[in-house]
Amino acid sequence: MVSLGVNVDHVANIRQARQAIEPDPVTAAMLAELAGAHCITVHLRSDRRHIQQRDLELLRKQVKTRLNLEMAATEEMIAIAGRICPDMITLVPESPEEVTTEGGLNVVNQQDTLKDAIARLQDAGIKMGIFIDPDPASLEAAKAVGAQYIEIHTGLYAAAKGEKQQVALQQIVDVAQKAAALGLGVNAGHDLTYTNVTPIAAIPQIAELNIGHNIIARAVLVGMEQAVKQMLKLIRAAKGCC
Ligand code: PXP
Repeated sequence: MVSLGVNVDHVANIRQARQAIEPDPVTAAMLAELAGAHCITVHLRSDRRHIQQRDLELLRKQVKTRLNLEMAATEEMIAIAGRICPDMITLVPESPEEVTTEGGLNVVNQQDTLKDAIARLQDAGIKMGIFIDPDPASLEAAKAVGAQYIEIHTGLYAAAKGEKQQVALQQIVDVAQKAAALGLGVNAGHDLTYTNVTPIAAIPQIAELNIGHNIIARAVLVGMEQAVKQMLKLIRAAKGCC
C-alpha cells in the first residue's frame, strides 16, 4: 500500500493572502490525519510565503502520523529543523521567483554542502531524503551524499501528454527501480492529481506520494475528509487493494 502524505501549504496560502489567522494549516492537518493521511508535509520557505515557523512548531506537537518537512539546505533551515526535529526532511531547491518548486535538487553540483547538511540532521535523529528529477545521475549523487530516500519529481510526467507522458512515466519507473536496488526509499510527488495519480501509485517501489495542491483544491469544495478519502481510494486501487 502506498502511503499518502498530504501537503497543507496551500491552506496557509489562503490564510497569508489576507495576513489572517484562518484557515489554519494545523487544523487542516488534523482533519487530513482523521481522514486517513499517513503523513503531513509542509515546506517552510525562506520567504515564509505560506507556512510559518509557528505552524511547524504546532504541527510537531500535534501530528500523530509523521511530519515531513520540505526545506532548502541552508544554515537557517538546518538550525530550525535541528530544533524542531520533524520525522523526516526532504531537501528541495528553492528560488524566490518560483511559484512552486520547479524541479528536483541539483545534487551533483553541491555534494559537499548536502553531505554535511544530511549528516548533521541525521545526527539529530531525522530521516533524510532528497527531491530529485528522475535521472540516474541525481539518484547516484543522492546515494553518495547519504540520503536515505529520494522523492521523485513527477512534474514532467504530469505536464506531458500522450506518448510523451509514457516516456516520462518510464523514466520514473527506471529511477524507482534503480533507487530500490541501491537500498533507498522511494517517494514521489508534484502536480499529482485525481486524474493522473494511478500510474504513479502503481509503481511497485514507490512507498509514499506527497500531494498538496489538488487535494486542497478539492477540499475547498467538498471538505478535507472527502478530498483525502477520494485520493486514498485511488492510490489503494492502483495497487490492487480494495
Ligand atoms: N513534493 C515536493 C518536494 C514539493 O515541493 C511539493 C510542493 O510543495 C509537493 C510534493 C506537492 O506538490 P503539489 O502541491 O503539486 O501536489
